[in-house]
Amino acid sequence: MNKANYSSVKKPLSLLAPAKINLHLEVLGLRKDGFHELSMVMQSIDLVDQIEISKTNDERITLVSSDPSLSTGKDNLIIKAAELIRSRSGLHSLGAYIELTKNIPIGAGLAGGSSDCAATLVGLNAMWELNFNQDQLKKMASELGSDTPFCISGGTQFCFGRGERLEPIQLLNSKMAVVLVKDPNASVSTPWAYTTFKEIHSDNYLSREVDFEKKRNELRNGFWLKNFKDENPRPLVNDLQEIVASRTPAVKTSLDFLVSLTGAVSVAMSGSGASCFALYPDFHRAKSAFESKRVELERLGLEGWCCSFSSTGVRFAK
Ligand code: C5P
Repeated sequence: MNKANYSSVKKPLSLLAPAKINLHLEVLGLRKDGFHELSMVMQSIDLVDQIEISKTNDERITLVSSDPSLSTGKDNLIIKAAELIRSRSGLHSLGAYIELTKNIPIGAGLAGGSSDCAATLVGLNAMWELNFNQDQLKKMASELGSDTPFCISGGTQFCFGRGERLEPIQLLNSKMAVVLVKDPNASVSTPWAYTTFKEIHSDNYLSREVDFEKKRNELRNGFWLKNFKDENPRPLVNDLQEIVASRTPAVKTSLDFLVSLTGAVSVAMSGSGASCFALYPDFHRAKSAFESKRVELERLGLEGWCCSFSSTGVRFAK
């Protein structure tokens, strides 16, 4: 249905939903709820989806997307988020028309769907004047996905538990940037990546909370931050990288391409893939390394972006 068929009763709200990369991803063990206990550092980057929300005077929640390959039905996290926040408000007659402009690749380990979901919660809370506070929004977000609470506040954060236990970090160099690449025909299923990892590594899983906390403290106590103190840090850790790259040729190709770029601080896969990134001290250096290999990128059939770190998660567009 066309937007003109809806009578919007308020000016539309426009939000930006940034992607994230994983600067650290360690799988510690298996939880009682079947999810993995993780120790991560997540970082927002300035590759953003845009979400425009109009309040309508019917009780329908309608989603239209710029990407025809994306379902706009009940399985879309935007619809799930809208239905959850409406049901928690008890105001069942509220309606919304939501337009999604998709820029973050799908199935990429960049939390695109989670960030759209987070933007929907924040946007509808404002548009429908529901007055849920940040903690209440994050609680709803955690019911919708492990990365979704991070996407609300974003920036740089330690993410523990399933990924929903957040501790903000002050980065020493917030001017950093990435060259991000992905094969447009490759996507990795997150459940598959974790199941495969479990099959191979579960014998080494930790199980006691005291051991999980020891691992979290290693990260908090700065061994990770040392990565950002000079330009020759230790490699970034992503425990899922080896099993995904060895079974997904497009990920291996992406990593090899990034390693061939000059001046990168480190190279890693993001989340469960299929996107990979090379880290640079600033946007200028990332851009010039990227431009000098653009022909090779195209020859390999990869898509690429240069993105600065972003200090925020979901935000209202000006
Ligand atoms: O929470 P989210 O929808 O992102 O999780 C997708 C899948 O990834 C889960 O169903 C699970 O298989 C796996 N996962 C996990 N442990 C986590 C996060 C995700 O095993 N902490």
